[in-house]
Amino acid sequence: MMNGNIKNNSSIYLLLSTFVAALSAVYVVTSCTHPTAIKCRPNQASSEDFVLLFTGNWAGHLEPCGCTDVQLGGIDRRTQTILKLAPDPCASLLLDAGPLIDRQDRQSQLKFETFLYSLRQLNYDAVSLTPQEIILLRENLALASDQHSPVICSNLSPDLMEKYSLMPFLRKTLRCDKFRLDCLIFALWDPRQISEPHLAEKFLLQEPVAAMKELLTAQNLSPDQPTTDTLVIVMLSTLNNDNLTQELLQIPALDVLVTRGSAEEPELCPHGRNSHGPLELTTGQLGKYITRVGVPFGNSPHDMNLSFDPVAIDSAFPRDPAVVDLIDDYQARLKLENLIEDEFAIPRSPLSQGDRFLGSFVCAGCHLEIYETWKKSNHSHAMDTLEHVKRNFDPECVACHTVGMKYEGGYRSMKKTAHLANVGCEMCHGPGGRHLDNPSGDYRRFFTSCEQCHDHENSPAFDANREEYIRKIQHWPDSRN
Ligand code: HEC
Ligand code: HEC
Ligand code: HEC
Ligand code: HEC
Repeated sequence: MMNGNIKNNSSIYLLLSTFVAALSAVYVVTSCTHPTAIKCRPNQASSEDFVLLFTGNWAGHLEPCGCTDVQLGGIDRRTQTILKLAPDPCASLLLDAGPLIDRQDRQSQLKFETFLYSLRQLNYDAVSLTPQEIILLRENLALASDQHSPVICSNLSPDLMEKYSLMPFLRKTLRCDKFRLDCLIFALWDPRQISEPHLAEKFLLQEPVAAMKELLTAQNLSPDQPTTDTLVIVMLSTLNNDNLTQELLQIPALDVLVTRGSAEEPELCPHGRNSHGPLELTTGQLGKYITRVGVPFGNSPHDMNLSFDPVAIDSAFPRDPAVVDLIDDYQARLKLENLIEDEFAIPRSPLSQGDRFLGSFVCAGCHLEIYETWKKSNHSHAMDTLEHVKRNFDPECVACHTVGMKYEGGYRSMKKTAHLANVGCEMCHGPGGRHLDNPSGDYRRFFTSCEQCHDHENSPAFDANREEYIRKIQHWPDSRN
């Protein structure tokens, strides 16, 4: 049967998010506890669906960078979003398909921990993590299982599952009035995506499709038949592998397959729901959306008309103070561990042939007029901007708002290297040491291009207004545009 009720156009999600935003005043934040302590709320009259909410593929974006005011996302804006999309936790599922982070450095570890505490705070039913994240969770951070949402991995051997306290699947029965929907949630890792030998050795994986079928059979479900009373969801948390996806799409018992796309916006994959297999969707990237899938009450999973709505996390959703606290703690740890000064926490590139950074003030000695023009530009107080939003100890922000943080001899702290704070001359022109020694020698003009900082994410207006941006900082003769 074809699915006749897939809503995949932006006007619908806009409508939905506006509708949801309009309701923002009505709901109060309920304080959240661990999933086991959830109290069911009475069903809201307006909803006629069981609601499945999916997130994932965060690439470390706890919150948008704040470089412009039109950015979507933020884990702290989700409490209200979730409350509005799925007011009754007993009639909804909240799942994260992972991964949470995209790097292995110390900052990402701290972020990972913050993600886990936040997801628990938000009462996620379960999450799917990557092998690297599991190692981080159990070996580096040594978090106990009650400190985070349940983690599913369905194709790991039982002894490893136990060793890492993972669940092979989650079963949850959604309830609303007389309606019931049994859900089974699996998460698979693709062995072909685990390339690092130490991980492949550590995680002896079962072939995902075979493991999946075995688990279904053990639950008295035939993998080759559409289920009549159970909704089966599979999340793939390792990178997309087309072969594996294709194989999973052929399993009639599956209803929803969550894969990892590359677009920021959640997508409904083109195969839609074919006559046998599941509906394939992605969660979008960078934490900008929540994907809502609606399952009409009273429909059997067998002939269910699932609806699909990507919901943008915009600033109409207020921040949850409890999650803001978690993010503040994370920022406090970045400061406490002083990652920017720690030469080993961040890789630093060497400067060519013993060159060195001087600071813009030294340039003023010979280029006073230019220095004064620069002083009046926003580049000269980029660090104040970060201090103002309390992100001046966050390496990810400081890298673009100072000179040379990712280089030897670059910005490290206001105490040690105040002369390299802000987007100074040398961040565009390159280290000036050798130029000072020999001003008439060759001085490389482009160290960092405008677009390396003014990219799509941090300066979305740049592309269309390039001339205007350049004019604003011009300190060279008009003839040399
Ligand atoms: C001791 C004086 C002096 C200092 C200090 C100095 N410059 Fe210069 N700079 C010069 C002179 C002189 C020229 C012109 C050289 C020429 O035209 O041959 C020049 C040229 C330049 C040029 C143009 C290079 C070119 O190839 O056209 C840039 C860019 C520049 N300086 C940037 C800087 C920056 C950035 C600093 C600080 C890190 C700096 N200068 C510090 C004296 C100085
Ligand atoms: C190292 C990163 C970096 C590079 C390279 C860079 N910028 Fe910027 N730019 C910034 C930051 C950060 C700000 C915001 C400063 C603030 O307001 O605190 C900014 C702000 C600006 C603004 C002010 C925008 C406004 O609010 O009106 C202009 C104009 C601008 N940049 C132009 C340029 C141009 C043109 C180039 C290339 C020649 C360039 N920038 C290269 C980081 C950079
Ligand atoms: C890739 C480089 C880059 C990174 C990383 C970066 N910024 Fe920026 N930031 C910019 C640029 C470029 C601008 C200027 C944008 C414009 O005016 O078009 C800017 C502007 C800002 C502004 C000024 C906005 C305004 O309304 O004037 C704030 C605040 C800011 N950034 C905060 C942050 C924070 C917080 C982080 C870290 C989470 C961060 N930035 C990371 C490049 C960056
Ligand atoms: C945001 C990037 C950026 C910053 C910051 C910046 N410049 Fe430039 N600068 C440029 C660009 C772009 C040009 C034009 C290069 C060209 O014409 O080829 C330029 C040109 C110059 C020139 C050559 C002027 C001429 O007459 O041709 C000098 C000298 C210079 N800059 C010095 C400085 C000094 C000194 C500072 C700091 C006080 C500074 N710049 C800050 C991007 C920057």
